[in-house]
Amino acid sequence: MNALIVYDSVFGNTEKVARTIGEALGANGQVDTLPVSQATMDKLRGLDMLIVGSPTRSFRPTPAVSQFLKTLPKNHLAGVQVAVFDTRIWLDTIDSSVFRFVVNKGGYAASTMANVLKMKGGQLFVPPEGFLVTGEQGPLKEGELERAASWARQIQLAK
Ligand SMILES: Cc1cc2nc3c(=O)[nH]c(=O)nc-3n(C[C@H](O)[C@H](O)[C@H](O)COP(=O)(O)O)c2cc1C
Repeated sequence: MNALIVYDSVFGNTEKVARTIGEALGANGQVDTLPVSQATMDKLRGLDMLIVGSPTRSFRPTPAVSQFLKTLPKNHLAGVQVAVFDTRIWLDTIDSSVFRFVVNKGGYAASTMANVLKMKGGQLFVPPEGFLVTGEQGPLKEGELERAASWARQIQLAK
C-alpha cells in the first residue's frame, strides 16, 4: 500500500487525527502524512490511497483544502482509493438549540471533500467520517483518537 494523508488544521486537532490515522495505517505499508501546504502534485504520483482531512469551518473544508481539491486535474485520481474525514464540533457541547440546529443542518467538510474527490476520479471506499471536538477550538472529545485509529484499521479491511 502506498498511501498519502493530506490534512489541514488551524488549532491542531485535525493534525492529531491525521497523524493517528497515519500511524495506524503505517504498520502496513508506505504512508506519508502531509499538511496541505506541502501536498504538491508530484506527491500524488503512484498512490493507491489518498485520505484527505480538514476541520469543518462554516460547514466546509478550509480554503487551503478546497483549493487543493480544486487544482487536482480531471481524472487525476482514476484508480486511487479515496477516504475523507473532518473534525467538527460535538453538538452536545453547544448550549444554544438554535445554533445546534444551524450547525447540524449546515453540513460538514467531509461530504463536500468526498464529492470533489469522486469528481476527480477517486473511488470512495468508506463513508465520510467526522471526529468531534468539544469547543470551537477543541480539544478533541475523549476517545476520538482511539476511534481514529480504529477507523484506519477499518479502512485497511475495506480496501
Ligand atoms: C470560524 C470557525 C467556523 C467553524 N465552523 C464550524 C462548522 O460549521 N461546523 C462545525 O461542526 N464546527 C465548526 N467549527 C469548529 C471547528 O470544526 C473546529 O475548530 C475544528 O474541528 C478544529 O480543528 P483544528 O484544530 O484542526 O483546526 C468552526 C470553528 C471556527 C473557528
